[in-house]
Amino acid sequence: MGKLRTILAGVFAAGLLAAPVVAEEDIAMPNMKWSFDKIFGTYDLAAAQRGFQVYSNVCANCHSMKLMHYRDLSGIGLEPEQIKAIAAGVTVPQGVDDQGAPKEGPATAASQFKSPFANDQAARAANGGALPPDLSLIVNAREGGPNYIYGLMTGFVPAPSGFKMQDGMYYNKMFPGHQIGMPQPLQDGTVEYTDGTSNSLDQEAHDVVTFLSWAANPELVERKQMGVRVILFLVFMTGITYAVKRKVWSDVH
Ligand code: HEC
Repeated sequence: MGKLRTILAGVFAAGLLAAPVVAEEDIAMPNMKWSFDKIFGTYDLAAAQRGFQVYSNVCANCHSMKLMHYRDLSGIGLEPEQIKAIAAGVTVPQGVDDQGAPKEGPATAASQFKSPFANDQAARAANGGALPPDLSLIVNAREGGPNYIYGLMTGFVPAPSGFKMQDGMYYNKMFPGHQIGMPQPLQDGTVEYTDGTSNSLDQEAHDVVTFLSWAANPELVERKQMGVRVILFLVFMTGITYAVKRKVWSDVH
C-alpha cells in the first residue's frame, strides 16, 4: 500500500513538473471574427476581392493555386470583363510551337491560375529547400483553418533569446516548431487597396484569409442555405404529420 502511494505521488509530481513545459508550447490560436462564420454567415465579397489582390501581388510569387481558374473569380463578384482583363495580364505556358519549343501567351478566363514555378524541385531550389504548398485547399488542410493562417501571417516576431535558429529559417510563433522557411510575406502597407480600406498587416492578413477560405469552400454559403431549408422542411413535415395523425385518430375514443 505504502509503495503504491509513493508511486502515485511520484506520478502526480511528474505531472505537475511537466505541466508548465506543455503550457509554454501551447500558443493561443487567434479567435477572429469571419464574415463566413455562423449559420447565416456569407463571404464578405469586397474582402475576398482585396484578398485576391494580396494573393496575386504577394503570395503568387511563391505559391500555386492549381485548383483555381480565372473564371472561378465570378464567385467573389468579379464581372466577366474584369476576369478577362485579369487573365489577359498573366502570361502562361501554352503548349509547344511548330518546332516543338514551349510557347507562352496571355491566359484566358478558362486558364488555371498561373503557378510561379515549373515544378516542385524548382520551387524548393528558389526557397532554400522548403516547398511552398499549393494554397487551393490550405484553409481546410490546417487545424484551426482561417484562424491558423491569420495567426501565421501575423506571427512573425523576433526569436526569443536563446532560441537556436537554423540558417535561412524565420521565427513564427504560430508555426509548429516555430522555424518556417517562408520570410514574412505581409507587413503594414504591402499592398495598395483601391477601395480606401486600410492596408495594415492585420487587414491584409484578414483579407487574404477570407479569399483563401472562399477558394477552399466556395459552396459553403449554398450548403448552409440548403441546411436551413432542410430544417424548415422537416419542421413543416413534422407539423403536417402531427395534423394528419390527429385527424386519422379523431374518431377513436
Ligand atoms: C518568398 C516566397 C513566399 C511568399 C511570397 C509567400 N510564401 Fe507562404 N510559404 C513559403 C514557403 C517556402 C513555405 C514552406 C515553409 C516551410 O515548410 O518551412 C510557405 C508556407 C506557407 C503556408 C503553410 C504553413 C504550414 O502550416 O505548413 C501557408 C499557409 C502560406 N505559406 C501562406 C502564404 C500566404 C497567404 C502568402 C501571401 C500573403 C505567402 N504564403 C507568401 C514561401 C512563400
